[in-house]
Amino acid sequence: MALLPILSYPDPRLHTVAKPITEIGEHHLVLIRDMFETMYESKGIGLAATQVNHHERLVVMDVSEDASKPLVLINPKIVSMSAERIRGEEGCLSVPGIYDGVERAREIQVSFLNEKGEAKTLDAEDMLSVCIQHELDHLEGKVFIEYLSALKRNRIKTKLLKAQKDAARS
Ligand code: NI
Repeated sequence: MALLPILSYPDPRLHTVAKPITEIGEHHLVLIRDMFETMYESKGIGLAATQVNHHERLVVMDVSEDASKPLVLINPKIVSMSAERIRGEEGCLSVPGIYDGVERAREIQVSFLNEKGEAKTLDAEDMLSVCIQHELDHLEGKVFIEYLSALKRNRIKTKLLKAQKDAARS
């Protein structure tokens, strides 16, 4: 097991569009284990492979309070979305310390493969739905702050660049 470095905004690699996984290999299972370890260690509830600079369509998630509901989504696709929207406060391990409201579909149905390669369908609502939509955006090279105004986004960018510079100096 290993902790993986997480890319931080505005790293341009976060805008890579991930490729579908055609065959689940041993290296994917190792990556999944490492992604879970990295996500739990960072107190996150979701991590897309994109964020650890691996550009295949793979997401790990756990929205439970006690790390009891690990979920692996390989090649996930949103099949349907409710017209009803909710606005939740989102954060992201690639945008440390920043939280802001984003509007998303309240309910979705998502199809995916699990780590055994079995086809699954999941109906998700509220927090789980929001988390899945957030992580699937990562696979498209999109970070949640891109839903915010240009003004806010630029402010966040400046703040994060300064924090990265300060961290490099110390
Ligand atoms: Ni994120």
